[in-house]
Amino acid sequence: MNYLITGGAGFIGSHLAETLIAYGHHVTVLDDLSTGDMNNIRHLLERDRFHFTEGAVENSGNLQSLVTWSDTVFHLAATVGVELVVKEPVRTIQTNVHATEKILECAGQKHKRVVLASTSEVYGRAASEVFRETDDLLIGPPTHSRWAYAASKALDEYLALAYQKEGKIETTIVRFFNTVGPRQTGRYGMVLPRFVSRALQNEPLEVYGTGNQSRCFCHVADTVEALLALENARNTDGEIVNIGSTDSVTINQLAERVKSLLNSHSEVRHIPYNEAYEPGFEDMPRRMPDIDKIHKITKWQPQRSLDDIILEVASYFKNE
Ligand SMILES: NC(=O)c1ccc[n+]([C@@H]2O[C@H](COP(=O)([O-])OP(=O)(O)OC[C@H]3O[C@@H](n4cnc5c(N)ncnc54)[C@H](O)[C@@H]3O)[C@@H](O)[C@H]2O)c1
Repeated sequence: MNYLITGGAGFIGSHLAETLIAYGHHVTVLDDLSTGDMNNIRHLLERDRFHFTEGAVENSGNLQSLVTWSDTVFHLAATVGVELVVKEPVRTIQTNVHATEKILECAGQKHKRVVLASTSEVYGRAASEVFRETDDLLIGPPTHSRWAYAASKALDEYLALAYQKEGKIETTIVRFFNTVGPRQTGRYGMVLPRFVSRALQNEPLEVYGTGNQSRCFCHVADTVEALLALENARNTDGEIVNIGSTDSVTINQLAERVKSLLNSHSEVRHIPYNEAYEPGFEDMPRRMPDIDKIHKITKWQPQRSLDDIILEVASYFKNE
């Protein structure tokens, strides 16, 4: 099979590319290297079934031919990371909306299949115990730029499903919850790589807010297995599917776990949200997926533990 992965030089995309190549598929990555890194895919460049094209999806002159070549497009290219989103809301909205518009337009010309990467952020500020694909999306007000990311991704979802409804494409929308593992950078606000790299240097771990907010961290290898399982299931057209771990941990507990596993002397410091991000910043108390749907379709469930993830990320940083 031929796969186009937009954003394939990024964290999740590079792992997906590697796995598809290992299964004997042909992969083309289109990436503008804005938050991605050539080092994530350098080892794939010598494989003749792998091709890399540098460029932004929305400005790429050969997007139509890349989409036409592919059997399935994994559309992962996006502006991601809370810090980046809060600092650059215009870029966030423009990239996430325009790139998706372009991909869907090209896919629509040739009736292609598109797997669209969305996010748990679309569930917004609801305080539910778990989030189901059928839940309402309670995105906060436009005066808080954090919600620009969620709103842009929600619009992507509506647009992809509109194309599907009009019979122009086949699409599956995947809502990733916190995905972590080797190659993820802490530069744009991701907590786990940040904690691990700081703990290795015995530098302070900065917990934003009270630290009582909880999250579930899914190993990227589990996430990639979920994507392949959905791809093989082939009965997910027009569906929205959560992908994530259900092993919940507060950010305070995460900091302590990282410290103890890495024998670190780092101090844990609490920073108010308005200092960490911007005045009025809103965060969610919990973010746990309901994964019954993907389990019913594919039998998938995450296999790797949080401790495995922390140790693997630590060894990645040590060898970098
Ligand atoms: N990692 C997570 O926890 C998580 C959670 C929810 C959703 N997601 C979604 O998964 C996808 C992949 O995220 P990631 O964590 O691998 O982030 P990432 O930043 O590592 O990957 C995004 C990639 O897209 C590229 N890119 C950005 N804008 C582009 C453009 N206009 N044209 C071409 N390439 C462009 C970047 O250079 C980067 O390589 C994104 O769509 C993101 O919204 C990720």
